[in-house]
Amino acid sequence: MTKIHAAITGVGGYVPEYILTNQELETMVDTNDEWITSRTGIKERRILKGEGLGTSYMGAKAVSELLEKTKTDPKDIDLLICATVTPDMPFPATANLIADQVGATNAFSYDISAACSGFIYALTTGAKFIESGSYKKVVIVGGDKMSSIINYKDRTTCIIFGDGAGAVLLEPTTENVGILDSIHRSDGSGAPYLHMKAGGSRIPATHQSVDANQHYVYQEGSAVFKFAVTNMADISAKVMERNNLKGEDIAWLVPHQANKRIIDATASRMGITDDRVMMNIEKYGNTTAGTIPLLLWDYEKQLKKGDNLILAAFGGGFTWGAVYVKWAYNPF
Ligand code: UT7
Repeated sequence: MTKIHAAITGVGGYVPEYILTNQELETMVDTNDEWITSRTGIKERRILKGEGLGTSYMGAKAVSELLEKTKTDPKDIDLLICATVTPDMPFPATANLIADQVGATNAFSYDISAACSGFIYALTTGAKFIESGSYKKVVIVGGDKMSSIINYKDRTTCIIFGDGAGAVLLEPTTENVGILDSIHRSDGSGAPYLHMKAGGSRIPATHQSVDANQHYVYQEGSAVFKFAVTNMADISAKVMERNNLKGEDIAWLVPHQANKRIIDATASRMGITDDRVMMNIEKYGNTTAGTIPLLLWDYEKQLKKGDNLILAAFGGGFTWGAVYVKWAYNPF
C-alpha cells in the first residue's frame, strides 16, 4: 500500500504592530541593550495591544492569511489544532474560537499545551490524522500572547518574550515529502524551573495570588538554559541519525527562538552552518508556540521542494522534540 505523508502546503503568520524595543525596556527595568543582545540575541519584540484581544485574535489572523494564500475554503477544514499556553480563557479552547472566527464550521478543534514545544507536538499530532487517511485538511496553529503573563518589572523574563502566531496547512501526499519523522519527550520534574504558579486548579486566582505575582511566568533562566542546550541538540542529533542525515544534508535548521546561544550550540552540534539556521529572534523575541511557524512564515520564499528541515524545540514542562520535514513546494 502506498504510504500517505502529511505535507505542509502553506504557511500564514501574524505579529502585532506594536514594537517593544530594548531601548524602551531600559526605561522599564534595570537592563540595557548590550546585555540583552549579547545574552539572548533579541533586539525587539511585538506586543498585542487592545482591550479584549487574546491569542485567538492573532491565531485567526494567521489562519485567515493561510487560507487566502492556499485558496482553501474554511468549510473544507477537517481539524484545527492550536498550541498555546496563553489561551483566551481556560475554556473553551482557543482552537474553538479561532475555528469560529475563520468560518471553519465543519472542523473539530482543540488546544495542545506544551509551551515552547507546542507547535511541533501539534504538528506531529495533526500529521497522524492525515497519515491514517482520516482527514484531508488539518490546520496547525502555534501562538502566544506572552505579554499577558509577563511581569514587566521582572528583568529576567520581560526582556525575552513577545506576542505572535503562525499557522500551517497539512494535506495528504503520496510523494516522499512532508512530516517524515519526529521524536518528542517530556519531563514534568522540570516544572519547578519554568512555570506559572497560579490560575489553575492548584492555586485558583485570589487577591493573594495576584499580590504575590503568581500569575506571571517564573523562570530559573540558567537552569533552563542547561537543559535546553543539551536536550534540543541531543534530540535533533537523534532524529538525524535515525534518518541517516548528516549536517550537509540539512537545508535548514528551524529552531525554537529562546536564546541565540542555545540555537548556535544546537546548530554546531548538528554540523549546520549559520547560513542554514533560520533566525528571527532579533525582531520577535520568544513567542513560545509561535516561534517555529513564524520562522517558516518569514523564510517561506527561500524554501524549495525537497529541502530537508529539522524543526527543534525545548520548553516549559519540560517538553522537547525534533521533527524531520521534507519541504513540499517551491515558492509561489
Ligand atoms: O523558551 C522556553 C525555554 N526557555 C529558555 O530556553 C531560556 C533559557 N535561559 C536563557 O535564555 C538565559 O538563561 C537567560 C537569557 C534567561 C539569562 O541569561 P544568563 O546568561 O543565563 O544570565 P543569568 O540568569 O545567569 O544572570 C547573569 C547576570 C545576573 O547578575 P549577577 O548575579 O551575575 O550579578 C543577573 O542578575 O545577569 C543579570 N541579569 C540581567 N542584567 C541585565 C539578569 N537579567 C538581566 C537583564 N539585564 N535583563
